Amino acid sequence: MFSSESLISAHDLTKKFGSFTAVDHIDFEVYKGECVGFLGPNGAGKTTTVRMIYCFLPLTEGELSVAGMSVATQAREIKNMVGVAPQEDNLDFDFSVIKNLQVYARYFDISKAEAEKRAKEQLTFFQLEEKKNVLISELSTGMKRRLILARALINEPQILLLDEPTTGLDPQARHLVWEEVRSLRKRGVTIILTTHYMDEAAALCDRILLMDNGKVIEQGRPSELIKKHIGADVLEVDNDEKLLQTLKAEFPDAQFETFGDRIHVFTTQPHGVFERFLEKNPFTNVTIRNANLEDVFLKLTGRGLKA
Ligand SMILES: Nc1ncnc2c1ncn2[C@@H]1O[C@H](COP(=O)(O)OP(=O)(O)OP(=O)(O)O)[C@@H](O)[C@H]1O
Ligand SMILES: [Mg+2]
Repeated sequence: MFSSESLISAHDLTKKFGSFTAVDHIDFEVYKGECVGFLGPNGAGKTTTVRMIYCFLPLTEGELSVAGMSVATQAREIKNMVGVAPQEDNLDFDFSVIKNLQVYARYFDISKAEAEKRAKEQLTFFQLEEKKNVLISELSTGMKRRLILARALINEPQILLLDEPTTGLDPQARHLVWEEVRSLRKRGVTIILTTHYMDEAAALCDRILLMDNGKVIEQGRPSELIKKHIGADVLEVDNDEKLLQTLKAEFPDAQFETFGDRIHVFTTQPHGVFERFLEKNPFTNVTIRNANLEDVFLKLTGRGLKA
């Protein structure tokens, strides 16, 4: 599906802020043409990692290269081939929507006419033409997010870094972004995407890199991770000690996790085992569903909120 050529390569990559280690000696590769999802709880180190890739933050230790170039010495060349939609809103509030795109385009070697054309295309795609001449302060949160995405595409990047691109977007706009990500991927653009929406990661990403406390704790294709850590089906029932014992006796190979007032039972057995059990043992407030990436996330990163 994607090439075996590594486009972004991190070895022993570390970022410290004072004595605090935000990114802790991590290794990873991103291959040409793939869409990789960086997932992890708040504070896991995703944004810090992405910022080092686009040469915004210097590394503390380790090596990081983009298209064979070192982020330490070839920042200019790297920035030319990368498009960035940062997590925070860094639009220029003194300028209009269109001016934000035009000014940004000047950082790259793009003619004025070409920049004009691309800006128009992006505003059309992200449904912002009507707002072309308004100031940033007059945009809604979701519109600002869409403009940041439009801006990230102005230099027609070969690598796209999207840090929570769909946070705050309405469902229509979210699907518009998905459509764009898929279409860019088809055209061979390599994409790193951070998101807290597990359905988004499952829908868009070829591979997931799961981070926690500055480390990469797991990586793989979404379907493989689900199969490896969770299984096929999940049964959710109200937390009840007697019921738990019955389920444990019935499904000795299953994994059980208590989540608040619910018990989750994960099985690797084929679809249908829970249904058959429920026919014989009917009880209320029960859900059977397919295992998903959110189950993997919660299982591997713990269920409590991160401090
Ligand atoms: N400039 C900074 N100075 C000090 N600490 C920082 C700085 N930037 C990030 N950190 C710390 O580094 C850790 C990782 O932050 P980062 O923004 O990379 O997390 P994240 O995985 O992107 O989280 P989120 O899902 O909330 O966006 C956090 O503990 C954060 O407080
Ligand atoms: Mg972040």
